[in-house]
Amino acid sequence: MSAKILDGAALAQSIRADVAQRTAKLAAAGRAPGLAVILVGDDPGSTIYVRHKVKDCEEAGIRSTLDRLPASTAQQQLLARIRELNEDDTVDGILVQLPLPPQIDPFTVIETISPAKDVDGFHVASAGALMTGQPGFLPCTPYGVMRLLAHAGARLRGAEAVVVGRSNIVGKPQAMLLLQADATVTICHSRTRDLAVHTRRADVLVAAVGRARMITGDMIKPGAIVVDVGMNRDESGRLCGDVDFESASRVASWITPVPGGVGPMTRAMLLVNTVEAAERKQESSDGN
Ligand code: GUN
Repeated sequence: MSAKILDGAALAQSIRADVAQRTAKLAAAGRAPGLAVILVGDDPGSTIYVRHKVKDCEEAGIRSTLDRLPASTAQQQLLARIRELNEDDTVDGILVQLPLPPQIDPFTVIETISPAKDVDGFHVASAGALMTGQPGFLPCTPYGVMRLLAHAGARLRGAEAVVVGRSNIVGKPQAMLLLQADATVTICHSRTRDLAVHTRRADVLVAAVGRARMITGDMIKPGAIVVDVGMNRDESGRLCGDVDFESASRVASWITPVPGGVGPMTRAMLLVNTVEAAERKQESSDGN
């Protein structure tokens, strides 16, 4: 058996085209959506991510601004800038790129962003909304994974879904979204005893651990849908996921490649959240 490729790059492209249409409508009605990005310091990885985000916005007709603050920025200074952006009516979404330098507490920073502009979906209010089934912003990676699963025609109701990884940004919200879709959800992590016992039961397997090729074909149920959130470098410096693609693709029915799977979807869902934030604001001002 050979798995079908779950092509995140292609799906992301169609999502961006849809965002561009929604953006054009907003622009015609008065104002294009706006995203404010803040980068503190000059971590090379973060600099590349931020550059991608700004470019994606441009192509989708979303106005974006980039604040580049020095690595020595005091927390108070960053918080003051966020408060300004919270008050700025031309800004629909605010994104502070993580990680932050050690003198800045990421939780305090995220909690300072207005929940109405939390397009990363990292605020406690966003997490709480997800947990309780209320409207709010979904974190971009798990949101993108759900779109990929829908695209693969995954039947989630009653399915065994296993998430490997329990981060606040991916693992935990991913599990919650799968639960909302009526899957039976297991969360595995670094202390899980006999990981393979769990992964082998999964109809849907989401790997988000950050360890190169740790999920191998023998750990996968034949016919499973495998989504690889990992973004690692192997010993020879090659980009690879948490799943050993070669062995896994002989067992799975669908599998995401790395790169070209989840990565482009994460980027696309940021645009979706930003246009959504602008639409919500327009709707609430229409109602006034
Ligand atoms: N750093 C790595 N991924 C992300 C992300 O999705 N959002 C933010 N703000 N920082 C990140």
